[in-house]
Amino acid sequence: MSDKITIAIDGYSSTGKSTIAKQIAKHLGYVYVDSGAMYRAVTYYAMTKGLIHESDFNAEALIYQLDIVHINFKFNSELGFAEVYLNNQNIEKAIRTLEVSSFVSKVAAISEVRKKLVAIQQQIGKNKGVVMDGRDIGTVVFPDAELKIFMTASAETRAQRRYKELIERGDDVVYDSVLKNVQERDHLDSTRKDSPLVKADDAIEIDNSNLSLQEQFERVLQLVTMTIEDTE
Ligand code: CDP
Repeated sequence: MSDKITIAIDGYSSTGKSTIAKQIAKHLGYVYVDSGAMYRAVTYYAMTKGLIHESDFNAEALIYQLDIVHINFKFNSELGFAEVYLNNQNIEKAIRTLEVSSFVSKVAAISEVRKKLVAIQQQIGKNKGVVMDGRDIGTVVFPDAELKIFMTASAETRAQRRYKELIERGDDVVYDSVLKNVQERDHLDSTRKDSPLVKADDAIEIDNSNLSLQEQFERVLQLVTMTIEDTE
């Protein structure tokens, strides 16, 4: 039997990281972890506690309260993936709004938040057999991951995909706001001091602007198969 590997998938917002990560995890029988959901969960916490408003963010108070922010995942067999819980409340749907997206990169820039979430991520992945997607998985969380993938696509392609997703789930959004959010998060995530979004030296870049889901899956599966063979 082959040993399990760790697969890190990083990249810009709305590049479809979670779609491919879920497909690969299912195919291999690995655990899928959406690290972005954890940053969104902390953001949601801050919003519901009144720590974030349009022009004002009480980072000090959030840092102070971090010990009582409990985040975990529970597998939903109907959906086929693990949903995120905040202090025992299922918040999987609530964290996907454009409002949460508009604050999350500020929360994710706080070192104390990152330290807490990275420790949980490393704990979940300590026995390998995990596919994790995010911004710093191949650089910070699992620098020794056997396979690192870096996903890119044009901002317009990504905004179109995210706009369609939000409209399909019934959210009242306009395309321009979605595009603006994608561009702002690209900028904040890439320029923050702690764990900025950068391609790891040993990551394989995939631009999926013109790839169908099937083509993308086949491409990544080929990389996975080669990597598993190499580690045997
Ligand atoms: O799904 P989408 O690409 O829109 O983003 P996400 O993966 O849900 O991540 C939301 C935000 O969390 C990102 O824009 C980052 O600011 C932050 N994040 C991070 O800093 N580090 C990670 N490993 C994952 C997400």
